Amino acid sequence: MPSFARLLSSVVVAAGLLRVHAATYNEATSYIGQDFLNGAFTFFTDPDPTDGRVIYVNQATAAADNLTFATDDVFILRADDTTVLSSSGPGRNSVRLTSVATFSTSAIVLDLAHMPQGCGTWPAFWTFGPNWPLTGEIDIMEGVNNQNFNQGTLHTGPSCTMPSSRDQTGNIANNDCAAADDGNDGCGVEFASNTFGPNFNSAGGGWFAMERTSEFISIWFWPRDSTTVTPDVKDGQSSVNTGNWGTPVANFPTSSTCDLAAEFGAAHNIIINLTFCGVFVNTPSSYTLSHYVNANPGAFSDAFFEINAIRVYE
Ligand SMILES: *[C@@H]1O[C@H](CO)[C@@H](O)[C@H](O)[C@H]1NC(C)=O
Ligand SMILES: *[C@@H]1O[C@H](CO)[C@@H](O)[C@H](O)[C@H]1NC(C)=O
Repeated sequence: MPSFARLLSSVVVAAGLLRVHAATYNEATSYIGQDFLNGAFTFFTDPDPTDGRVIYVNQATAAADNLTFATDDVFILRADDTTVLSSSGPGRNSVRLTSVATFSTSAIVLDLAHMPQGCGTWPAFWTFGPNWPLTGEIDIMEGVNNQNFNQGTLHTGPSCTMPSSRDQTGNIANNDCAAADDGNDGCGVEFASNTFGPNFNSAGGGWFAMERTSEFISIWFWPRDSTTVTPDVKDGQSSVNTGNWGTPVANFPTSSTCDLAAEFGAAHNIIINLTFCGVFVNTPSSYTLSHYVNANPGAFSDAFFEINAIRVYE
């Protein structure tokens, strides 16, 4: 091979290992304030599939109990924080929302002022498709029990493993994305400190963003006082250029060990939910935790999402 061609091909190979991301997307949908209550999201009312100490209520009950509350600018979603529960009765009232619209290749930005905090809380902002886990799940924001860092995770069908070396700033918790393995841990990436829980809240929250293509899925975070957050994210502009967002915290590339186009072969709904003492928080002592959830409603007064906006770009 002539040296120039060899050089070119090694550049192409090197670029292939990196995440080539320079896409510009235009705003397709935004959810702000009352938008969350005007039919753009449905209220999930089935029993919690993960056995959380929670009852998901319908829209009328959520409104009557002020578990959902909207102004023109902000949307609040909370759990019941007044009822003392019986340990033999049902769990604490809470809300799980599912977007009606679905998205495939897209960039989603969550501008969050406050997330649920408190012992036993398990809040999440995530997306998934039909026939779980065969069309994938992307957990953008998730964590429990006042932990200090967010975790971004994929859950997939049986054949998806992430490479251990990739272009991201976060720390790998697990590379096996298959929901059937490791108790459905998924392939998680841990974010830096202060991306979750009380410290996230006291700093005024921040922005989580996720870009999904058939080549990669990436997640970013910027705290409210970030000096590097780009104006498209910070100001909720009508288009975003993910090429300016810098190295993602979590990066899940397509590869020979995970064909993202196959594993994420459908459009996803956006989910926001808040559970208590689900399988994720049941260790080390599920009895102690569920007892705490039952007996201490006041411990959940900070168990609320305050969402400034969700913007979806396609
Ligand atoms: C949120 O909701 C469903 C069950 O209600 C569950 O599959 C999901 O894992 C829950 N929690 C998180 C943190 O994703
Ligand atoms: C409902 O919740 C909102 C937000 O926390 C609060 O401002 C409002 O006063 C509450 N309304 C009632 C009737 O408690």
